[in-house]
Amino acid sequence: MGNSRATLGVDLHVEPSAAGGLRRGLTDALRDAVRTGRLAAGTRLPSSRSLAADLGIARNTVAEAYADLVAEGWLTARQGSGTRVATGVATAPTGRREKAAPPRRRVSDRPAYDLKPGTPDLAAFPRAEWLKAARRALGAAPSEALGYGDPCGRPELRTALAGYLSRSRGVRADPDNILVCAGISHGLRILATVLRARGAGSVAVESYGLDVHWRILAAAGLATHPLPYDELGTDTGDLAGTDAGAVLLTPAHQFPMGTSLRPDRRAAAVDWARRTGGFVLEDDYDGEFRYDRRQPVGALQGLAPEHVVYLGTASKSLAPGLRLAWMVLPPSLARECAAAKGDSDTCGVLEQLTLAEFLTSGAYDRHVRAARLRYRRRRDALVAALAARAPEVRVTGIAAGLHAVLRLPQGSEPPVVQAAAWQGLALHGLSFYRHEQARAERPDALVVGYGTPPDHAWAGALEALCRVLP
Ligand SMILES: Cc1ncc(COP(=O)(O)O)c(C=O)c1O
Repeated sequence: MGNSRATLGVDLHVEPSAAGGLRRGLTDALRDAVRTGRLAAGTRLPSSRSLAADLGIARNTVAEAYADLVAEGWLTARQGSGTRVATGVATAPTGRREKAAPPRRRVSDRPAYDLKPGTPDLAAFPRAEWLKAARRALGAAPSEALGYGDPCGRPELRTALAGYLSRSRGVRADPDNILVCAGISHGLRILATVLRARGAGSVAVESYGLDVHWRILAAAGLATHPLPYDELGTDTGDLAGTDAGAVLLTPAHQFPMGTSLRPDRRAAAVDWARRTGGFVLEDDYDGEFRYDRRQPVGALQGLAPEHVVYLGTASKSLAPGLRLAWMVLPPSLARECAAAKGDSDTCGVLEQLTLAEFLTSGAYDRHVRAARLRYRRRRDALVAALAARAPEVRVTGIAAGLHAVLRLPQGSEPPVVQAAAWQGLALHGLSFYRHEQARAERPDALVVGYGTPPDHAWAGALEALCRVLP
């Protein structure tokens, strides 16, 4: 690489070596310039476009080098004031080539704040109650419970789940048709195997969702066909025109848009399943957290238990690390799904027994009620902060769950997501969740999970978010 001089921001002389890759060469050259004091604290660097043009390299390469140095603490990036040399980093006098000393600012590959949806506040896991339940459960368990076990899961847990789900979610659940699995993703893998074996070639999905789920279906040989998404939510009326063997929906709280499926569209999905023999796969990932009414939206499964698979999980209400979830299956699928899970249970018995005890003792309800209150307060703080600090941003999808959708002015999603990364703020734009063949509008937006930060970090996370918003 030749020497170069950028003309915008500052006159910047860098000599990136191409030997270990351009991004690395440029990162090293810039770090060296800061470390040796050639670039003083507070100096504004040229825009990535301008430096890229001067160096004759891709703009992305410059942007990535800047992002690496922001993450390492050598640079800071702020909307409106560009990328600058950080203050307080350890520098050596010009000319002295010392081994790179770590900057005194935060040096970490981990984001300072995590606002991606998906994980609840793990610091709030009810450890003491869980331990008590574990002790009681193990004390009461017969020796045979510690054997290989029925692939469907422990009967104590299936019975406890049947009671809880029918009471709290309106699910029509017989313990014999419940299959315990290690996460909804595991349940989907089992269902995909069974559907494929039955001859299905595709599954209808929502235009917005989790690509990990689409990949699980694809890995089993099932194509995914997105349904249209309009201002009323997912249009299940479109199912009539597909030859899908099943449809994967998030009826209580569309992920990530946050709408609940309208009654006519719930009915259309069920009608389609009845007419064609297809199945509705109801992903009820965060049904416990509803804020706008006393009763959560009832499960779709209650309308047609013969045609709907209900999938629930402990990943949001307790912790994803438990890897505990459950499927309530139509009787016609129960045996095949158990066989697809394996010959013996693949989910740990002690966790299952503990969850059963947690449910039947009332500890689960108490925990969920307290968590609902805490998350609701966070949601209210988010809405209030946005109204005060970012009035151009419209927040939607806040009636339930642990995340909200922040609508941004057109064209601003990519720069805001990048500015967030530079601030050590992990978050995703809405486009991250869009199916590549989505039949939907493509608004610029952020999906902000407010569940993950521990309580002590929540205010800082909110402040960091407000700083990157337009
Ligand atoms: C839409 C959706 N479904 C399901 C899950 C839970 O998946 P699992 O039970 O595999 O942890 C999540 C968690 O983030 C989710 O967002």
